[in-house]
Amino acid sequence: MAYSAPRGTVDILPETSGKWQELEQLLRTICANYNVKEMRTPIFEHTELFSRAVGDTTDVVTKEMYSFADKKGRSITLRPEGTAGIARSYVEHKLFALPEKLQKFYYMGPMFRYERPQNGRQRQFHQFGVEMIGLESPYVDVECMVMAVTVVEALGLKDITLHINSLGDEASREAYRDALKQHFQPVLNDLCYDCQQRFEKNPLRILDCKVDKDYPAMKDAPRTIDYLSDSARNHFDKVCALLDDLEIDYVIDTNLVRGLDYYSHTVFEVISDDPKLGAGATVGAGGRYSTLISELGGPENPGVGFAFGMERLMIAMGSESDEEDGLDVYVMPLETEAKDLAMQIVTMLRANGFTCDMDQCDRGLKGQFKSADRFHAHFSMIIGDEEVQKEVVNMKCNHSKEQTVVPLEDIVAFIENHYEGGHDHE
Ligand code: HAM
Repeated sequence: MAYSAPRGTVDILPETSGKWQELEQLLRTICANYNVKEMRTPIFEHTELFSRAVGDTTDVVTKEMYSFADKKGRSITLRPEGTAGIARSYVEHKLFALPEKLQKFYYMGPMFRYERPQNGRQRQFHQFGVEMIGLESPYVDVECMVMAVTVVEALGLKDITLHINSLGDEASREAYRDALKQHFQPVLNDLCYDCQQRFEKNPLRILDCKVDKDYPAMKDAPRTIDYLSDSARNHFDKVCALLDDLEIDYVIDTNLVRGLDYYSHTVFEVISDDPKLGAGATVGAGGRYSTLISELGGPENPGVGFAFGMERLMIAMGSESDEEDGLDVYVMPLETEAKDLAMQIVTMLRANGFTCDMDQCDRGLKGQFKSADRFHAHFSMIIGDEEVQKEVVNMKCNHSKEQTVVPLEDIVAFIENHYEGGHDHE
């Protein structure tokens, strides 16, 4: 029987893992610049966490979660997103009691959603996310958005637009909910079954409906921004003013409501029009959540954050990878005895911090030189019977083509003197 990876999952093979590491490294560097520290939370959590935090009328919770009963019958879910786990951990470990009122976290890792796979959409995918928890200040919203923009700029992504909107505070959202209900009441019977349920439980979610999305009443639905309370309006105006001051381009997108329930005030999406992803693809998204921490049993500390889909970042970055780092030395034993010596030499070189490898396939010179080439080796070290007897090796520099006979005890000194290579072997 032939096995294949489950639908919607992808193997990251060595030929692309280097590119992933580059992306991860760049993101870690940006986080260090922003004084944002890594938090690693479990890949599975209790199902109730997500129904509570993400919302039990959202598509993510009702349709897309990988949930199962564990051996004790507890309902467990593979995390569909990262914010809920971070918020749970922040409360559980009382990070709100730390002297710094604003705590800033980042995470990278696999997330799971049962969705129809397509370009840039998988069932196991990866997110890079940031959460800044502790303050309601619009300055923090803007810090998050600037950071998100910094990410796409650092990756050289083109055709990117920052879309923002405000959902307002609790009072604004209540007024908005009433307005939505009034708007959809007369056409309720024309909406799909799910939307009729949403109408009662959470009318905002009608706006995410994939079935009714082209229905006329969707197009002229009320806009959140027209129902903001004075303080929510002030918050949003300050966010816009700060973005203007920092000369960050954005569009106010009054249709943006986001598909997760924990949002209030600012919501935003980083949209790409790169044809590689398909027009209008969301590469990253986020927003403020004012009550999530208190709903999970913590104090009334609000947060704001965002997450990027790393596969989408990879697609938009393109596949051209930087020239791979080569080996310092490729060791080429030509006889059995030479192989014993080769094994000792690669072990010694690796212990000295050099990157090296040796032929394990007992091939002839030609085949071994081909490998040295494929591994971009700076030196090929040829060891035959004669070299073994004389206790020397033959070092060929693959750039200058120069060959030098080097006594065993001088190998390290020889490499250090003749090669300032790309590797730090201090
Ligand atoms: P989200 O909009 O559900 O937000 O997901 C964020 C990003 O994850 C999306 O913009 C997309 O790039 C990527 N993504 C989502 N689903 C998939 C999928 N099936 N395959 C590939 N990529 C996907 C959140 O998850 C929030 N937790 C973001 C946030 C953090 N808000 C505040 N803090």
